[in-house]
Amino acid sequence: MNLDIKINMEQILKGFSHESFSELISDQIKIIKDTYTNEQENFPKTEAIIQSLRSKSKEITSTVIFEEVGTVQHIGNGVANISGLSQAAIDDLVEFRNDTRGLILNLHTTSLDVILLGNDEGIQGGSLVTHQINKLKIPVGIDLIGRIINALGEPIDDGPDINSLDFRFIERPAPDITHRSPVNTPLQTGSKIIDALFPIGKGQRELIVGDRQTGKTTLALDAIINQRGKNVKCVYVSIGQKKSSLSLVNDVLRKNKAFDYTIVISAAPDDPPAQKYLAPFTGMTVAEFFLDQGDDVLIIFDDLTKHADAYRELSLLLRRPPGREAYPGDIFYLHSRLLERACKLSDNQGGGSITAIPIIAMQQGNISAYIPTNLISICDGQIVLDKEKFNKGFKPAVNIGISVSRVGSAAQTEVIRGLANTLKLELSQFEEVEKFTRFGTELDESTTQMIKRGRRLQQILTQTIHRPYSLSEQVLLLFAANRGYLDSVKINDLKKYERDLLMWSRNNKPDVLEIIKIEKVFTPEIEKQITDLLDSFSSYWEKGDDANE
Ligand SMILES: Nc1ncnc2c1ncn2[C@@H]1O[C@H](COP(=O)(O)OP(=O)(O)OP(=O)(O)O)[C@@H](O)[C@H]1O
Ligand SMILES: [Mg+2]
Repeated sequence: MNLDIKINMEQILKGFSHESFSELISDQIKIIKDTYTNEQENFPKTEAIIQSLRSKSKEITSTVIFEEVGTVQHIGNGVANISGLSQAAIDDLVEFRNDTRGLILNLHTTSLDVILLGNDEGIQGGSLVTHQINKLKIPVGIDLIGRIINALGEPIDDGPDINSLDFRFIERPAPDITHRSPVNTPLQTGSKIIDALFPIGKGQRELIVGDRQTGKTTLALDAIINQRGKNVKCVYVSIGQKKSSLSLVNDVLRKNKAFDYTIVISAAPDDPPAQKYLAPFTGMTVAEFFLDQGDDVLIIFDDLTKHADAYRELSLLLRRPPGREAYPGDIFYLHSRLLERACKLSDNQGGGSITAIPIIAMQQGNISAYIPTNLISICDGQIVLDKEKFNKGFKPAVNIGISVSRVGSAAQTEVIRGLANTLKLELSQFEEVEKFTRFGTELDESTTQMIKRGRRLQQILTQTIHRPYSLSEQVLLLFAANRGYLDSVKINDLKKYERDLLMWSRNNKPDVLEIIKIEKVFTPEIEKQITDLLDSFSSYWEKGDDANE
C-alpha cells in the first residue's frame, strides 16, 4: 500500500511542475482518502504522506516558459514559409498547431522555409508555429529489430510502440580516419558471381546500378538473407518504392526469417518529400547504434535515385538554384556525407562495421548520367546489371566488363581468391571472343575450347532468387569449373549437375565442405580432398554424350 502511494507521488512530482500542481495534489489526496477510509490501521501512515505532499506542494514555484511563435506566410507542396522566428537556426524543428513537425532548411532575412515532416491538413497562411529547441532525433536500439519504421522512427507495422531509451540526431560526422581500419573481413552475399568476382568486405560501399527491373533489389535482398546466423545486423531503407514492392520485400524477409536481425525503414512515394529525403540518414543512424556496440551492419539504400529526386524536388520548392540535370549543387555532398559514415572501425574503437549497398536506377543503360557517376565516385566499386543479359536469362545479370570492387578483394577468403582470378580472366576473354562466333567465323582449337569453357562458367554463375550459396558450395563449384570437370557436361544439364553435386557432397563428404569453410588458406591438402570428391562424384554422375556444344 505504502509503495503504491510512493509511486503515485513520484509520478506527480515528475510529471507536473507548474501552477496546477497544487490542484493535482488535492485530487490525489482525495483519491488516497477515498481509498483508505475503510482501512483504519493504514490511515495514520496515509495522513503523514498527505502532510508531506502538502508541504511539498508549497515548495513548488510555478515557472513561465517562453515559446517563440511564428506565423505561416504561405504553404504548399510540403514546404512552408514562416515569419517571426528570430531565434531559429538551420535544422531546428518547428511544430504546427496540428502537431505536424517541420524542419528548417532555409533562412532568409525576415522569414524561413520549413519542410513538413507530416501532413499539412489544417495548416494555412496565418497559422501559428512554435519553435522547438530540439533538433530532429530518432529512436535507436535493439528494440527496432524486426520492425518497420518510417523516416521519423515511428512504427508503421501495426506492432507495439517502440520504447527506446536512446534517441539520436540523424546527422553525425563520419568516424575519423584514425579510428578506422582497412577493409579486411569478407561479407558473404551468397551470390556466386559477386562473392567470386566482385567480393565485398565489411565496411565497404558497393553500388548496385542497373536499368529498371534488372534484379537490383533481389541481389540486395539475397545479401540480407545470407546474413542469417552470421551475426550481422541488416537495415533495409526503402525510398520512394511502390507499396507493392515493399510488401514483396517484407514477405521475402519474413519467409526467410530475416526479420530476426533486420530493420526496415520505409519512405513511400506518397509520404512527404521530406521523409524520403531523411530516410537514408535515419537508416544510417539506426545502423550506427549497432556499430557503436561493435557489431557488423549491412545497410541497403533502395534506391538513391529516388532520394536524389526527392532532394531535387525539395530544393526546387525551396527555390535553391538548380545545377546539372536540375539537381541542386550539393547533391554530391549529401550522398558523400551519408556514405562516408559507412566504415570499418579499428579494434580499439570496438571493431564494428557498416557495409553500405546503395542502389541506383539507370535510364537505358546510361551509366554516365549525373547521379550514377556521382555515386560511382563516392563508392568503393559498382556492380552493374545489364538489361540485355537479364533478358537472355543470365541472372544475376552482372556486367563483368564494367563492374568492379576496389577494396573487397583484400578481404576475400584466400580459398576463393585464387579460383576467382583465373575465372575472371577466362570470362572476359570469352565475352570478347563470343561476339565473333555470331558471324559463323571458323575458330581454331584453343578458341573453341575457350568458348566451351566460357559458356559453362557463365551458366554456373547464374543463380535463382533467394537461394544464397555458402562459401564451401561456391568453392566447390568454382573448383569444378576451373579444373575442367564441367567441360564434359552438357550446358542444359549444368543446373542438374550443380544440384546433384552439392547434394551428393552434403550427403557423402560433409567433412570436405566443413574443411573448406574453416580453412582460410588453399593448401595442397585441401586441393587434393576437393579433387578426390569431384572424381568420386564424376564416376557417380553419368556423363552426357554430346559435350561439344
Ligand atoms: N536471379 C534471378 N533469377 C530469376 N528471377 C530474378 C532474378 N533476379 C531478379 N529476378 C526477377 O526479376 C524481377 C525484377 O527483379 P527486381 O525487383 O529485383 O529488379 P529491380 O531492378 O529492383 O526492379 P526495379 O527497377 O523495379 O526496382 C523480379 O520479378 C525478380 O523476381
Ligand atoms: Mg528494385
